[in-house]
Amino acid sequence: MLDKLAEIQRRRTFAIISHPDAGKTTITEKLLLFGGAIQTAGAIKAKKVGRHTTSDWMELEKQRGVSVATSVMSFEYDGAVLNLLDTPGHADFSEDTYRTLTAVDSVLMVIDSVKGVEERTKKLMDVCQMRRIPVITFINKLDREGLEPFALLDDIENNLGITAVPLSWPIGMGRSFRGVYNLRQKSYLCFSNKQNFEEIQNVEPENIPAVEDYQRAKLADDAATIHGALEPFSLEKYLRGEMTPVFFGSAINNFGILDLLREIIRLAPPPQSRPAAERLVDPGENKMTGIVFKIHANMDPNHRDRIAFLRVCSGVFTRGMKVYQVREKKEFKVANPLTFMAQTRAVTEAAYAGDIIGIHDTGALKIGDTFSEGETLNFSGIPSFAPEIFRLVINRNPLKTKQLQKGLRQLSEEGAVQLFKGLLDQKLVLGAVGELQFDVVRFRLENEYGAQCDYQAYDAAFAYWITADEEKYLREFQTDKPLRVMLDTDDKPVFLFKGAWEVKFLQEQFPKIRFYKTSECRERDLIV
Ligand code: G4P
Repeated sequence: MLDKLAEIQRRRTFAIISHPDAGKTTITEKLLLFGGAIQTAGAIKAKKVGRHTTSDWMELEKQRGVSVATSVMSFEYDGAVLNLLDTPGHADFSEDTYRTLTAVDSVLMVIDSVKGVEERTKKLMDVCQMRRIPVITFINKLDREGLEPFALLDDIENNLGITAVPLSWPIGMGRSFRGVYNLRQKSYLCFSNKQNFEEIQNVEPENIPAVEDYQRAKLADDAATIHGALEPFSLEKYLRGEMTPVFFGSAINNFGILDLLREIIRLAPPPQSRPAAERLVDPGENKMTGIVFKIHANMDPNHRDRIAFLRVCSGVFTRGMKVYQVREKKEFKVANPLTFMAQTRAVTEAAYAGDIIGIHDTGALKIGDTFSEGETLNFSGIPSFAPEIFRLVINRNPLKTKQLQKGLRQLSEEGAVQLFKGLLDQKLVLGAVGELQFDVVRFRLENEYGAQCDYQAYDAAFAYWITADEEKYLREFQTDKPLRVMLDTDDKPVFLFKGAWEVKFLQEQFPKIRFYKTSECRERDLIV
């Protein structure tokens, strides 16, 4: 086996986030292209199109212009192993994105130079800052007439509350855009066309070839301003999530991507320690530990399988390993752990801390599950969400009732939606954070399970989980409110409120009942 610590140190596991359309897919593709992981530009988009033809599910993605699935791509560059996690840009899939952010050590944030900081960027950055995730910024589409680079830095600082320090600088913009200058290395990639470039090292702005005089003068002036007036870059501040290094470029034209790739390897942290309820787990520990942060059923329509995504948090995961599933207190054998590369997968012999592996799951695994080599450990940090919109499920094909139930159960285990069942009337109600989740569920039920459903509006504003010290208090409450007490997929009782005004009223009427924002019913989620 390879040197474990060296293997861990050379890994960079990061997520790419942005407002839709800023260029996330294009940048991902170009990183893979420069990393030698794919051979032709358009491969990822071509895959997307290819999938449209085999699965209508992707048609939904196309129609809506959203990237729905979170995928994992691993590739090597210059001695480093990069694990890149894509996230859906659309707000309605924020649960998926937030879960993905729990599996990474850093983030690459993409901003459109024409639009500046957008609404989704703000929300995603809030999460990064809450979790103190280091963020590298790439400002894309410099080939368009966008905001001035200094204005973009201000925009980031004012709207995202993080110090922005440029490490590269654009030469021109829009039609006069000629490329980017690496301020730290004083280097410049001089492109003769989209693919071919010459790298010029140790060049002062005044001496950059193949650009116009006024562009050289402007670059020299801007570089002096940056040097004199802006705070210098601090690796410590970046690692603490207080400062973001900023790179400029045009992904579609390959400008700025190679610098970005190299700087991700240089700056982004290797796998970090991770808190469990019991203790802090160091990635270099000998024993393997890991956490399931995502489950995806039917990823490949030909296989109809279910894959749990696990982040290895410490040690080495080897093929055929028997691991301990802490929640079930059971041994779990993983015959064929998978790694992912630009939508293809391969069985892996060994995965190190920081790697993401896929595990075939027959329904035994859940998001948040911890794996160890016997130790009782519970990794924390996977957020759970109180649903905010609800729909009553109407079964359109009674002959497919079983399929409908199975599909809804599996999709809720996958985190695509939350499923509640009426205690008394057995009605099925779905809860979500974003409207689009319902559409995706209906679509997948039909395509993957052959079941058809409609939705009806359901009069509920939010759901809180309920507990009581004694069973009789719960029963009393259920008898009083038989239609609105439901069970989640773990058979935990949930109460569906009609509005915020009801909370205080019910708390006074039933002082023995405790209401919680999440299904874990932890102290900090208690509604008081
Ligand atoms: P996303 O994943 O963040 O949603 O963005 P994506 O990469 O799909 O890019 C959104 C649109 O922006 C695409 O155009 C893409 O070609 C374009 N784009 C990406 N990088 C650049 C850039 O550096 N400069 C310019 N001018 N455009 C860029 P589209 O018309 O929506 O799709 P397509 O038909 O080009 O695939």
